[in-house]
Amino acid sequence: MDFNPEKCRNETEVESKFVVHYLLPALGYPPDTWHQEVSLGSIRLDFLVFAVQNMPLTIRDNSPLVLVIEAKGPKQNLAPHVRKLRRYLTELQVPYGLLTNGKDFRIFERHGSETHLVFRCRGLEVSQKLPQIKALIGCEEMRLRQTAHFRLEQTQSVNCTPSPVPEVNPSPMLSVAKIEAQGEVQKSHAHRRSPQVSSSLIHLPEAPVMKTIAVYHNKGGVGKTTTVVNLAAAFRKRGKRVLIIDLDSQANTTFATGLMKFDDEADDTIKDCNVVHLLSSEDFYPIREVARPADYCIPFIDVVPAHINLMAKENDLGALDQSRMVLIQKLADVANDYDITIIDTPPALSLYARIALIAADYLIIPSDLKPFANQGLNNVKGLVKDVNGFRKMFGRPALQVLGVLASKVSTNAKFRDWTLPRRIQVIEDRYGLRVLDSLIFEREALAKCSESTMTVGQLEVPSPQSIFDFDPDSESAQEFERLAVEIEGKIRS
Ligand SMILES: Nc1ncnc2c1ncn2[C@@H]1O[C@H](COP(=O)(O)OP(=O)(O)O)[C@@H](O)[C@H]1O
Ligand SMILES: [Mg+2]
Repeated sequence: MDFNPEKCRNETEVESKFVVHYLLPALGYPPDTWHQEVSLGSIRLDFLVFAVQNMPLTIRDNSPLVLVIEAKGPKQNLAPHVRKLRRYLTELQVPYGLLTNGKDFRIFERHGSETHLVFRCRGLEVSQKLPQIKALIGCEEMRLRQTAHFRLEQTQSVNCTPSPVPEVNPSPMLSVAKIEAQGEVQKSHAHRRSPQVSSSLIHLPEAPVMKTIAVYHNKGGVGKTTTVVNLAAAFRKRGKRVLIIDLDSQANTTFATGLMKFDDEADDTIKDCNVVHLLSSEDFYPIREVARPADYCIPFIDVVPAHINLMAKENDLGALDQSRMVLIQKLADVANDYDITIIDTPPALSLYARIALIAADYLIIPSDLKPFANQGLNNVKGLVKDVNGFRKMFGRPALQVLGVLASKVSTNAKFRDWTLPRRIQVIEDRYGLRVLDSLIFEREALAKCSESTMTVGQLEVPSPQSIFDFDPDSESAQEFERLAVEIEGKIRS
């Protein structure tokens, strides 16, 4: 059933016609799982949603509160309400928040004390995007995640050993609801957990754990950008908090993540705040300000966009000694906000490639394994050696080369069985580099997903998608999933 919330005429219609009669049933929430107009201390919520039946409204320490919904009138701008919603999520320790005025529809996800925008679309797109919305905040999906977390918690408290339960989603489970409820809400303190237990449950890192991976080869067209955007999506779908930094002036990653939807350069909102600004200033343009949530993957991924101006700025930046260190410093400032940062690089032995390799902990070298790309490997090794010399001067450990990623590999059976193993052997014997076990084959879907478009009114606008959002069952999606698992295994300290 399609419903267009943009037709709602006032706040009451957004609440009743859209949220109550369309959205909550469409997301699978029976009427006994949610409450309207709830007062909790000083907080007044439009809707408070639980993963399971909760009638009458009772809040205990382990109540499976999953979602706060705030509905506004169609004429109200949502921006001023975002801060309030963030506060509600943090104070009530609720993992998801939804803010809508019928025209604009935004979902926020909380990790510890940080709240990120993870989905946004126009009201009229809600019906069409329901599968993605359900994957994030559907009732069944929430229940599954909660079960996984409860099992995790039980295993940890019984064994005190790492749990075998896979991390379905990092979204913090509710721990102690830090609220002073009013009369109508009963409270129970019977099973209040210690703060330590709840913080381990919500995955608040004690020390910065962010790992930074540069994806680099000095040859173009070998699959660097394709690797960056889809590996990032694979990590995001596995529940990691991911940041992408585009350091290539061609801005292909910026495009492939959906940040360049404008048709006319007059609408270019990236030129005033991008990676050039970030690298040019030590004191201004922190990552939090420059990164934008990119909708090519659901949940969204933060991307620091590149711009063609990066090319013109190379000489100016090269003259500044500190330009090589600024990215390290700015990444350190967000070390608690992300689990993994992936940096895309230009196909050159340029300053930007150097900056990426200086800032990263790890390197992946995508290659089609053809003779030209192979010859380039000596250049890559030379740059890594150079960069390691520089890193040593600053007491930074050497860059760890995770390996060459065979990408754009032909699916021809004869090639796979005969030529491919020999090409892999050549890399290992002649260049002394390991080839990763995961392979990325040349497949149509992978080239197509970044070229997806959507129709807005009369216009066909770019709407690139990750392979997981474009075709989750495709072989390419499975290949990137395998790659993410392999890389995760290698970067776990
Ligand atoms: N595995 C693949 N299968 C099909 N097409 C691919 C694959 N990898 C990359 N491509 C296509 O090849 C071109 C170059 O890839 P790209 O990732 O942009 O390389 P680079 O960043 O190294 O220049 C793009 O058009 C991309 O869509
Ligand atoms: Mg590229």
